[in-house]
Amino acid sequence: MSYLNNHAYYYGIIKEYFDSLVNDPRTDFKSLNSLVAKIQEALWNLKMSYAGQQVTVNYSDPMTRLAYLYYYVPAYAMMTDLLWRNYKTTIRSKATEALLSNKPYKIGFFGAGPGSEALAALSSIQSDFLFRKKRRERAEKHFPKRKGGVSSSELFPLKEIGPSLEFRFFDNEKLWEKNRKELVDIAKRLSNSQENSFIFLPTLNAEIDLGLSNFRTTYKDLFDDLDMFHFQYCMNETLASSEIGLITLKNLQTIFTMMKHGSRIVIIDNRDYKKVEERIALFENTLPEGSIKHSFSEPLRGELFEEESDLLDKDGRLVVRGKDDFPLQEYRVPTNEPGKSAKLKRFAKSYINCGILIVEKE
Ligand SMILES: C[S@@+](CC[C@H](N)C(=O)[O-])C[C@H]1O[C@@H](n2cnc3c(N)ncnc32)[C@H](O)[C@@H]1O
Repeated sequence: MSYLNNHAYYYGIIKEYFDSLVNDPRTDFKSLNSLVAKIQEALWNLKMSYAGQQVTVNYSDPMTRLAYLYYYVPAYAMMTDLLWRNYKTTIRSKATEALLSNKPYKIGFFGAGPGSEALAALSSIQSDFLFRKKRRERAEKHFPKRKGGVSSSELFPLKEIGPSLEFRFFDNEKLWEKNRKELVDIAKRLSNSQENSFIFLPTLNAEIDLGLSNFRTTYKDLFDDLDMFHFQYCMNETLASSEIGLITLKNLQTIFTMMKHGSRIVIIDNRDYKKVEERIALFENTLPEGSIKHSFSEPLRGELFEEESDLLDKDGRLVVRGKDDFPLQEYRVPTNEPGKSAKLKRFAKSYINCGILIVEKE
């Protein structure tokens, strides 16, 4: 499994970010150890908040955000990475195909927080793009176009015009913006972007409330041209909420109504929350026949999981961490017993009970 499992890469991004905080004289973290020690309490509180069926978290607290980065981001990024790879034709291919045809592709990440999903999306699209570009170049070398034909480099002068991948981030907590920007910058640096031949534009960070009543008029201009609307692990705090749940449901329907033909909605979320499942099912019931490409209630299945059967456990949960070593593994996390801690190596999130809804407006 290890060749498929990039968890070391995602923990590496967090490690690099934490190192930059330790080295920044404006922070009072003297070492990585002291940073990790300082976030233990916030991490315990965060775990407790997520354990209930109704979740409200105050992400404006800096320690809470750091705790989220440390424990949840690498695991969720790995989850997205595996899901995008498995559902490649329904999620990823359209992005790669647009870029290979010199067209822009725009993804909006909603409830993006620090952007775990964006780190995985970037890495996933980059590797697929390079793989397909090289394959096309190899094919052209072996089967050159007849005289008068046009080679793909003439059709798609990648350097001059440049296809672009655009990410827009939406969340109701503005303070995530700085963390997210740093993580995306590290990911860009690690990904050897000069090889890419497409322009990556993390353009917009907007504060939006998914549960706002006049959603359409307030935000329409921010996302009516998106090719993909990506929601990840924000449904409990929005769609399932007793306060804003029903408005959020209406807003999801509004998104489907206003989005372009060919655009997609992807919702990845936790199947342990009954209300999330229930409300996503309500949303699915309002969609036209044929638009649901994968229902949230369907178990995860597909080519990748058939080939690599140890990526799903016997209960259908995603296995996001192999046995390999990874950065930060020697640092501590609180266990489920109050006051006790263990090494991240033993206690990092390994199994995730996630579901995925993929919708396309035809
Ligand atoms: C558990 S985090 C998920 C973050 C990220 N998507 C991920 O997968 O790691 C939930 C996110 O939803 C955001 N959120 C909560 N309520 C929201 C609302 N009403 N509108 C927009 N975003 C909201 C939070 O600020 C937080 O960033």
